[in-house]
Amino acid sequence: SDDASTEKESTLAMIKPDGLNYTDDVKRIVNDFGFSILRELTVQLDEDEVKVFYSEHSKRSFFPNLVKYMTSGPVFVMVLEKVNAVSDWRDLIGPTDARKAKITHPHSIRAMCGLDSERNCVHGSDSLQSATREISFFFRRIVSTEGRVSKHDEL
Ligand code: PPS
Repeated sequence: SDDASTEKESTLAMIKPDGLNYTDDVKRIVNDFGFSILRELTVQLDEDEVKVFYSEHSKRSFFPNLVKYMTSGPVFVMVLEKVNAVSDWRDLIGPTDARKAKITHPHSIRAMCGLDSERNCVHGSDSLQSATREISFFFRRIVSTEGRVSKHDEL
């Protein structure tokens, strides 16, 4: 069929350092809402990796704090697949500011495990284009200019 809404999509979901204790809860929600987990990986990001992943926010005043937070411990990333995966996952995680989420989206994942706009416990790709970029960030073998193979898995 040509109807895009019936096509399966993949999105990148990430549990951020402060959310790792909630991994089982998040995975239960992932299953309950019909996502398939195509890949998963626990990884400690370094500063350069976080700066590349979040490069679109590099001019924001919070960027140094974001880099510090995202390197404070390992993250758990998943490639999730289902029809409408990108926007359905964004709906499930709720608003960026977890304080707001607790009021306006009390059943959202960020209401469950987040604290504020920085420590909001989970990430989701904001578009199909971002999803493609973010999935390849974690799940393709990247050979650096020195010819070194990175620690990231191959999708
Ligand atoms: S945007 O572009 O204005 O909509 O940005 P937003 O989606 O609100 O946030 C983009 C990511 O930056 C993180 N963020 C912050 N980190 C640290 N401190 C502060 N104050 C802060 N504000 C926003 C936010 O968690 C978003 O991360 P992701 O992983 O994309 O959800």
